[in-house]
Amino acid sequence: MSFDAPTVIRTKRDGRRLSDEAIDWVIDGYTHGRIAAEQMSALLMAVFLRGMDYGETARWTAAMVASGERLDFTALRRGGNPLPTVDKHSTGGVGDKITLPLVSVVAACGAAVPQASGRGLGHTGGTLDKLESIAGFSGVVSNDQVRQQLHDVGAAIFAAGQLAPADAKLYALRDITGTVESLPLIASSVMSKKIAEGAGALVLDVKVGSGAFMQSEPLARELAETMVALGAEHGLPTCALLTDMNRPLGAAVGNALEVAEALEVLAGGGPADVVELTVCLAREMLALAGIDGCDPAQTLQDGTAMDRFRALIAAQGGDLAIPLPVGKYSETVTAARSGTMGDIDAMAVGLAVWRLGAGRSRPGEVVQSGAGLQIHRQPGSPVAAGEPLFTLYTDTPERFEQAMAELNAGFTIGHSPPTRRSLVIDRITS
Ligand code: URA
Repeated sequence: MSFDAPTVIRTKRDGRRLSDEAIDWVIDGYTHGRIAAEQMSALLMAVFLRGMDYGETARWTAAMVASGERLDFTALRRGGNPLPTVDKHSTGGVGDKITLPLVSVVAACGAAVPQASGRGLGHTGGTLDKLESIAGFSGVVSNDQVRQQLHDVGAAIFAAGQLAPADAKLYALRDITGTVESLPLIASSVMSKKIAEGAGALVLDVKVGSGAFMQSEPLARELAETMVALGAEHGLPTCALLTDMNRPLGAAVGNALEVAEALEVLAGGGPADVVELTVCLAREMLALAGIDGCDPAQTLQDGTAMDRFRALIAAQGGDLAIPLPVGKYSETVTAARSGTMGDIDAMAVGLAVWRLGAGRSRPGEVVQSGAGLQIHRQPGSPVAAGEPLFTLYTDTPERFEQAMAELNAGFTIGHSPPTRRSLVIDRITS
């Protein structure tokens, strides 16, 4: 059967299903440069507006997996014993630096984490952008090195490269065409990378709330169920936690600032919500990896997780002895009056940090490692007039005005503490 891009675009634009053959053709054609970015952008927008059913999403995912290599770690051994592999993926949040302590905790408990990671998407940060704020760190790692690191260190965090290359191209295109917040596009993007990456099991952190791509709980639940089903279809045991993303995670948002906060958590301190989520996700990962008898919280206290993190960074060329970059310019927001800090809106903070230069608005743009925002007063804390609430950092001070405008719309000082919400909302398995 022969296809052409305008017909495929019109099919979806008019709300009809894409056939399996059309999906295979479009993903292969875009991956190999036979379909122009303008055409793919139009199709993505049609998918964004019209959606795809489960069958289309499953085929789109399979076509993205087939666009590149698949890794297989089933033969991995340590000390003569099989080495279980397990990964986690977050659907994207604000201040979400959990991967950094999490992979280290899981490695310290004896599983291995092969993690194909992404860059920032929209207003959310990406693990690779964060880690690249460490001098010398490289996410470009050969398959042999990944295998070696899993054996020696218990973790590797790398750019997907030849794993689902269709996703890398689509991810970058979605980021700049307003087509990120689409359930089938998120599900296929996440699961294609994770299926190709070859981990033995997967835990998903599906964010819900103002700072998430899925802002309502029913939509986040549907996303989680879709991804868990895609995992099962591809023989990848997958479970998902629905977690709150109405507020930023922790007190630091921005690439280098988040690495610094992750180091605090690895040193046994850090914000309670970051520690709680790290430990919850680690428990899920260890259960899927078949490891019991290891307390994730203990590895943060006794330094074994920190040892793994240092080894991981060193294996990928990073030097933690070199100070992390800090934006050259800073501005502090102070309290206009006394009261109680109300909710801090994750989307407002994410957009402020993106405006400060921590994210991209053009393809391939270099992000500012030192751009970001530090939160000095968490929701519910008492504040006195004139006290610092937030400090914003950037290398390009003309960005402050727009960043401040985003931030100012995202917090209040009132008389009573905001409603408490649980961080983990639900757990979804097949
Ligand atoms: N994470 C991904 O890998 N892809 C998305 O589309 C969103 C979050």
